[in-house]
Amino acid sequence: MYNRKPIAENIFHVGVNDRQKSLFENYLPLPKGVAYNSYLIVDEKIALVDTVDISFADVYLTKIEAILGERSIDYLIVNHMEPDHAGSIGLLRQKYPNITIVGNAKTFDMLNGYFHIHTQLHEVKEGDTLSLGKRTLTFYTAPMVHWPEVMVAYEDRDNILFSADAFGTFGTIDGDYSDACINTDCFWDEMRRYYACIVGKYGTPTQSALKKIASLPVKIICSTHGPVWQQEIVKVIDLYDKWSRYEAEEEGVVIAFGSMYGNTQQLTEAVAEGVVAGGIKNVVIHNVSKTDSSFILSDVFRYKGLIIGCPTYMGGVYPLVEKLLSAIECRGIKNRLYTCYGSFTWAGAAVKRLTAFSQTMNWELVGTPVENKQAVTKEKYQSGFELGQEMAKRLKLLHP
Ligand SMILES: Cc1cc2nc3c(=O)[nH]c(=O)nc-3n(C[C@H](O)[C@H](O)[C@H](O)COP(=O)(O)O)c2cc1C
Ligand SMILES: [Fe+2]
Ligand SMILES: [Fe+2]
Repeated sequence: MYNRKPIAENIFHVGVNDRQKSLFENYLPLPKGVAYNSYLIVDEKIALVDTVDISFADVYLTKIEAILGERSIDYLIVNHMEPDHAGSIGLLRQKYPNITIVGNAKTFDMLNGYFHIHTQLHEVKEGDTLSLGKRTLTFYTAPMVHWPEVMVAYEDRDNILFSADAFGTFGTIDGDYSDACINTDCFWDEMRRYYACIVGKYGTPTQSALKKIASLPVKIICSTHGPVWQQEIVKVIDLYDKWSRYEAEEEGVVIAFGSMYGNTQQLTEAVAEGVVAGGIKNVVIHNVSKTDSSFILSDVFRYKGLIIGCPTYMGGVYPLVEKLLSAIECRGIKNRLYTCYGSFTWAGAAVKRLTAFSQTMNWELVGTPVENKQAVTKEKYQSGFELGQEMAKRLKLLHP
């Protein structure tokens, strides 16, 4: 009926794929869908780790029943209260009235607020353990990765980390949940986009959480989204470490531009030609009107260089670029090499605002921003080209 292959002896993946939803949190595109993972540990005591979005409760409960039959569940471990994981808690309590819910004080505040559940609770604090028989879970709080109540649970026998959203990714699980059995190439960009959009603001709390788990001999990571990581553990932890320190993954430049009538786009071509002429091969150009800002944000996490261009619009910055600036500022992305350019017809304002953004972000401003009035002149095209070259030169200084 479905894949009942255990992750380890008597530990089962009972999560579901969401191939319907278009927008995660109602604003982030899901071209490859998303999975909500939940895990069932069958020991002397039976524990369920997190639940799934309520829309999938039917198939979810069926999966659990297929493993447990008439047996009940002793514990529901709630690592995270966001509704994509907490959604089915109320139903589970109805179906398994004797279930004890395991969480911390912050979990229970939310549990009461959302589900009016305040009985049969087992509160855990940092480092507390819960014996299930042969297996024992130890709990570590991971506040603000990416909600305040988030915690992770570590299983000591097979060294499994139930990590809540940490190490999660957009994208459904196609055919098998294990990273050892599938081609994982499709996940890396989506994992970065998930991190950038959802966790990206919380670099410091993520670093604290990584320090806590560094001492654990983790062999399997069971996140609430995406594959179960077994083969790629070193890679996923390394990526999380890089991203949460706001360190770029590789040499390259993101150029994000807005343009209504093509003038700023011409400057974009000039700047990109300059960057490549300067020896940088990784150049990604995003038109803010065509590419959702979540994909651009993901590339800002990926590359060290960022160049933004747009026209002046009603005395300010083109609206979709303003949206991107706000998304970047909210995440507090650090240490980027940055410059900008733009165009106007009667009174330029965009380049001034885009230039000031380097101060807002405390980023190094590379070269002199280029501002073009009306049709793009040869001279301005050349200035755009040189600006791109400046960026390449500055990047090359980092890795001579
Ligand atoms: C709705 C609208 C508002 C604009 N507001 C300003 C403005 O406040 N100041 C200005 O100098 N130009 C303004 N412009 C002119 C554009 O900035 C100018 O045409 C620019 O070259 C457009 O660049 P693009 O060809 O890349 O779209 C405005 C244009 C539009 C359509
Ligand atoms: Fe979440
Ligand atoms: Fe989630």
